[in-house]
Amino acid sequence: MTANFDSGRYRQVLGHLPTGVVIVTGLDTQAQPVGVTIGSFVSVSLDPPFVGFFIGKSRSWPDISKGTLFCANVLSDAQTELCWRFAKDPVDGATNRFDGLEWQKSANGSPILSGILASIDCTVESVTQAGDHQFVLGRVTSLGTTDVTNDAMVFYKGKVGGVAIHGE
Ligand SMILES: Cc1cc2nc3c(=O)[nH]c(=O)nc-3n(C[C@H](O)[C@H](O)[C@H](O)COP(=O)(O)O)c2cc1C
Repeated sequence: MTANFDSGRYRQVLGHLPTGVVIVTGLDTQAQPVGVTIGSFVSVSLDPPFVGFFIGKSRSWPDISKGTLFCANVLSDAQTELCWRFAKDPVDGATNRFDGLEWQKSANGSPILSGILASIDCTVESVTQAGDHQFVLGRVTSLGTTDVTNDAMVFYKGKVGGVAIHGE
């Protein structure tokens, strides 16, 4: 059936749905850190523990997924620069989005960036084509939280900000 809206309208309307923001990280075959900003990350199943996200046309994901391991880094509202850095090509002569950043290895060896709220280590359980994206289902193998007290980052109407909880 033909849709009665264009892609701009689709983006505009779906932009009303706030999402959290993670950077999905891993190591490429040269053991170099790779990462990409993702807003579609979601908890899928408790038992077994599955999470997932949707990835479109991506240069980073094939490098990350070759290892079949990844780590979802949950961003705080103080990490706007990181969010956009991992959504764009490296700038200012940098060759890698990680240039100049502090990070350490998670339990599965994937990069954990400084200042994040939580980390979720996964193995790739399955990858399913879903229109012009792929749905990556990850089996959670390790979890981490940090002592960062900032609120989580939220992506809403094309911009990032923080969570403002007013109710119970
Ligand atoms: C807040 C935010 C959320 C995003 N969420 C997704 C997403 O869920 N899936 C996706 O494929 N791209 C998403 N993107 C876009 C990618 O980060 C962007 O296309 C990036 O350049 C891809 O880099 P790569 O080619 O190295 O993978 C998002 C970008 C931003 C800023």
